[in-house]
Amino acid sequence: MSEWIAGQSKSLQGRVAIPGDKSISHRAIMLAALADGVSRIDGFLEGEDTRATANVFARLGVRIETPSPSQRIVHGVGIDGLKAPQGTLDCGNAGTGMRLLAGLLAAQKFDSTLVGDESLSKRPMRRVADPLAQMGARIDTQDGGLPPLHIHGGQALHGIDYASPVASAQVKSAVLLAGLYANGTTRVTEPHPTRDYSERMLQAFGWPIRFGEGWAEVEGGHRLAATDIQVPADFSSAAFALVAGCVVPGSDLVLEQVGMNPRRTGLLRALELMGADIRIENAGGQDGEPIADLHVRATALRGIGVPLDCVPDMIDEFPALFIAAALADGVTRVRGAAELRVKESDRIAAMANGLRTLGIRVDETPDGADIHGGTVHGGIIESHGDHRIAMAFAVGAQRASGEVTIRDTANVATSYPGFAASMRSLGFDLRGD
Ligand code: S3P
Repeated sequence: MSEWIAGQSKSLQGRVAIPGDKSISHRAIMLAALADGVSRIDGFLEGEDTRATANVFARLGVRIETPSPSQRIVHGVGIDGLKAPQGTLDCGNAGTGMRLLAGLLAAQKFDSTLVGDESLSKRPMRRVADPLAQMGARIDTQDGGLPPLHIHGGQALHGIDYASPVASAQVKSAVLLAGLYANGTTRVTEPHPTRDYSERMLQAFGWPIRFGEGWAEVEGGHRLAATDIQVPADFSSAAFALVAGCVVPGSDLVLEQVGMNPRRTGLLRALELMGADIRIENAGGQDGEPIADLHVRATALRGIGVPLDCVPDMIDEFPALFIAAALADGVTRVRGAAELRVKESDRIAAMANGLRTLGIRVDETPDGADIHGGTVHGGIIESHGDHRIAMAFAVGAQRASGEVTIRDTANVATSYPGFAASMRSLGFDLRGD
């Protein structure tokens, strides 16, 4: 099993390019596959999650070329052009892949089975199976609503007006993608607005869609037109170097041209409240997505109550935030984040247990934790096969008084291949691949 050994670094310096956005890369493959014509994707995340999605479409009869890493040329088969696959479709570690595909495949003429790795096999799928069933889909889950998903093709879907009980872009997207094939209008409303990449990308591929903060609406019966997509750098991957730049004394880092969609940048607001020195430079736009350089210099951070309305906008950044909190002065209070318990691992428990191992007091609640800032010591950390837990502790280790061993790091390749080498180039003490 792969592991990292990490320890205290000197100040971090330099500029770093961050890999492509995972959420956008998944969606770009999916819509390009269903479009009429050839689409080119640049900045594609060359990670295991997004490669799994590309492989699924190859199994469904879509020709996808890889002219170079981070590029894909997708020969779209048209909205009704997918072919019945042989055998099961493997989504790997990717919740986004499985949940969005459930929506798409529920509307096909053929049966399919979606499987995932050990972590994905423990993640809740009723949140998509239930609304899809309301549309007329037939999806069998395992006991407890878990994968694999057996999807019965040949069902006629109809539009629904779905008020999602969870703020989840994956749920919203699964329902909207099924809605492309449904009779009538499919509308989704959410308790808090979530990332709107599916909506924006449907628009980019020419599908008529209406959407605003916390709602979206599509009708069936249109077609998608091939287009070229430029994927911005993933804010969630940038979060690790960003927090490292805040907490390692003397650091001065520039993270280049990072995606700054406001539904993703809640961590920036939280870190600013903690007293971070982060400047947004060279702001611009790329295919309608805001992007900017993030210039971070180390400062002393103070504990905060994370505002509840920031939580959905930083849902993937809590492992990094817990590290910032552990190294801040005072207590940081996280609430309203129960969704963290059903991510690639139970991220509240994984971070709380890991931080306690390193000597930090953390009081867990069902939907969050109080993290008492203090001194981080050495120790052995279990990442539970969760990429973001591993990367967060690699950051925390840069301020540790002793050596930190981080176990089970292979899954970092799902979202951030090359993380260790890239962070070493900034001055991290991080040994292993
Ligand atoms: C994602 C939505 C979020 C996020 C995940 C990616 C997406 O999940 O945590 O990493 O691409 O739609 P939820 O929809 O479960 O909140």
